[in-house]
Amino acid sequence: MLELKGVSKRFPGVQALDGVSLMFAPGEIHALVGENGAGKSTLIKIITGLLQPDRGEVHRDGRRLRFRSYRDSLAEGIDIVSQEIEVIPESTIAENIMLDKLITRGKTGIIDWPAVHRAARACLERVGLPLPTGTVIKRLSAAHKQLVQVAKALAADARVLLLDEPTSSLTEHEVATLFGILRDLRDKGVTIIFVSHKFEEVFALCDKVSVLRDGRLVGTKSLQDLTRKELVRMMIGRDIDRAHLGRLDAERGREMLRAERLVRKGKVENASFAVRAGEILGFYGLVGAGRTELARVLIGEDRLDAGTIYVRGEKARIRSVADSLERYGIGYVSENRKEEGLLLQSPVRTNITIAVWPRIAGRIVRAVSRTKETAIAYRMIDGLDIRTRGPEQKTEDLSGGNQQKVCLSKWLAADCDILIIDEPTVGVDVGAKDQIHRLIWDLAKTRGKAIILISSDMPEIVRIANRILVFRDRRIVGEIQGVDDPAKSYAELSAAIGMHLH
Ligand SMILES: Nc1ncnc2c1ncn2[C@@H]1O[C@H](COP(=O)(O)OP(=O)(O)OP(=O)(O)O)[C@@H](O)[C@H]1O
Ligand SMILES: [Mg+2]
Repeated sequence: MLELKGVSKRFPGVQALDGVSLMFAPGEIHALVGENGAGKSTLIKIITGLLQPDRGEVHRDGRRLRFRSYRDSLAEGIDIVSQEIEVIPESTIAENIMLDKLITRGKTGIIDWPAVHRAARACLERVGLPLPTGTVIKRLSAAHKQLVQVAKALAADARVLLLDEPTSSLTEHEVATLFGILRDLRDKGVTIIFVSHKFEEVFALCDKVSVLRDGRLVGTKSLQDLTRKELVRMMIGRDIDRAHLGRLDAERGREMLRAERLVRKGKVENASFAVRAGEILGFYGLVGAGRTELARVLIGEDRLDAGTIYVRGEKARIRSVADSLERYGIGYVSENRKEEGLLLQSPVRTNITIAVWPRIAGRIVRAVSRTKETAIAYRMIDGLDIRTRGPEQKTEDLSGGNQQKVCLSKWLAADCDILIIDEPTVGVDVGAKDQIHRLIWDLAKTRGKAIILISSDMPEIVRIANRILVFRDRRIVGEIQGVDDPAKSYAELSAAIGMHLH
């Protein structure tokens, strides 16, 4: 039994945890949910010794644990799959997995590398990653880095496993493999704590759920006798409406972007579509269906092998990301917000306003006054409900979901006429998700932006788009029109999308 007794933690200006007492039983998957900034990651870090509590104690089977470092917690059989990717970028998969138990030969102290690689390979196979164990970590995708962390926990033979949003970049298949492993570990009596914003996952996988709000424990419930609606209420204290936000005036809008037979070998196959001002065109598909690849050629990040792009009716030659932003007014909100895009050491204000600065001769020039920057920053902080002490707070200190919102707001502030938004609500809580949906919808409705919304979240895309293209295996395989028609039900629309996927 793992037990927290009155744990509190304060950061400058915020009480991240406030007297939290909680019990986690072995053989149970215990979900931890709450709004962005509620204190989930802080709690996980305290259990693993990455942070020290100001007050309160952590007990294991009646013994008080006092960890001074992450290493101490590993020795106690407690391991973490963290939200921020913390694997060492320059090392190999094998070194990462076996970091804390490098196998030595006899008493010589010499590392037995073949044995290390063999042991690492066995763990990699369990998580379904058939990669060479000598691969350098920094060359892996975000999803594969997450899986390496899981393999590392398996190698450590953890008795308590903490997972902080482990599925944020995994494909459906990888999620299924991970859940299989977690159920198996649970049946072997491992204590599992699972932090997630995805309710489907919480209900499908977990036995119990504890809800945090503003650093306090709201309660612990068995998931068997809890509905989604009740859980949302516990989290944010109100209900969320999931109906479509309303009709868009897409037909009357000017055509802003047209793609004709775009090809990038092995990535994009013959993609043709157009998007108008005032329209939200959804790109729906599973992770890996080729939507991001298409976005990358549209913004000049990747080269086209064939096909033509027209912007505002004219043939466009988009050579780089800077080109797409400055000459064509196309903004791209990347799905990899953690890895690209944020200056973590800079204040929130800088990150929000950086895309507003014009570039001259390849150099970013700060032409906007500090006062104006601060005003823009405040508008975004209010509009997206970014939980921060203010525009001057260091971006690194924000919770994961709030960093996500900063990234999104940077492109909203840039005022592009064409916006490509890739998975805008991964890692964002239900309340904030609702706000982001309204904000995107409003950009199209009242400000006439042409928006391409890439999402694997069916309720999300059906809620705000007016037209949806369905992607499968790098192709557009179907189109659903009139998604914003109030006469059409969610069931009807999701069935129509599903038809193209199978
Ligand atoms: N190192 C730090 N310095 C200052 N404040 C911090 C630091 N780490 C976290 N905080 C603050 O503590 C609060 C709780 O953050 P935490 O990361 O635990 O939230 P969370 O529940 O994990 O949120 P999310 O769902 O967005 O990941 C937030 O207000 C955050 O800004
Ligand atoms: Mg977190």
